[in-house]
Amino acid sequence: MTPSIDRYAVFGQPIQHSKSPRIHQLFAQQTGQLLTYVAQEVPPEQFIEVTTTFFAEGGKGLNCTVPLKELAWAYAEHKTERAQLSKAVNTLVLQANGSILGDNTDGYGLVTDLTFNHGVNLHHANILILGAGGASRGIIAPLLAQNPAAMLIANRTPEKAVQLAREFNRPNQLSGCGFADLAQQHFDIIINATSASLSGQLPPLPANVLVDQGICYDLAYANQATPFVNWGFANGALKSLDGLGMLVEQAAEAFYIWRHQRPNSQAVIALLNAERNLCGVGK
Ligand code: ATR
Repeated sequence: MTPSIDRYAVFGQPIQHSKSPRIHQLFAQQTGQLLTYVAQEVPPEQFIEVTTTFFAEGGKGLNCTVPLKELAWAYAEHKTERAQLSKAVNTLVLQANGSILGDNTDGYGLVTDLTFNHGVNLHHANILILGAGGASRGIIAPLLAQNPAAMLIANRTPEKAVQLAREFNRPNQLSGCGFADLAQQHFDIIINATSASLSGQLPPLPANVLVDQGICYDLAYANQATPFVNWGFANGALKSLDGLGMLVEQAAEAFYIWRHQRPNSQAVIALLNAERNLCGVGK
């Protein structure tokens, strides 16, 4: 009898440009595992039905991306602590007892890319997070776990930043404000978690908000430098990175959760970076 091939997928809308199938096939090749991983367009109103069918038909694990992460969070019968805190799930796992576990590997992906791949020390750093939506929520707890000196969330709608900071209940370490409040403030690391890059825009940032030789990181990525990555270079950043490394690292963590083997994520990042042939980005 031929062994059945374990099935995985990423659901989202839109999904056609997703790099996840490629990344997971590369991981499977590296680790000598037999599996399939496909991208499927799933509108939010069909999420529950399609997901239930996927697992009922033997699917082993799912990634969920925009705009399904909150729905996946609600769907998961059990959640890891980091998923619970982020109120969003990007990885669903079929467990041995048939129940579905929800995890969120996004924050892990960001922290691993920053610290391990790029040697950025978050410990005692002053960190500014731009944006107070779902993407920000997913990275806050893993960043706080690195024990930065302080983190500030700045958002176009200031009340949302204040509210998000409050939820984590670390008033001495985490607070929220509007962009106008950033004047005269300086940060070692600025992380862009707004969706501004997706529409080619840039949050309004005052001059000198990044310390000399600071670090910029845009959660978004593209085949060209994003506006925020360019802003970082123009404002004296030592490194101004986009989110390709985070994408691969969150995938590597999902792969590990599903397959109990760690793939060589750096080799995959190097390959994808070479393919998009960026000048400046990822250096
Ligand atoms: P995501 O899940 O990607 O975080 P979201 O929850 O819709 O998406 O949040 C988008 C974030 O990007 C919000 O913080 C939004 O600011 P508001 O809360 O004021 O809407 C921010 N954002 C979107 N476009 C922006 C822009 N052009 N400039 C600054 N911030 C922007």
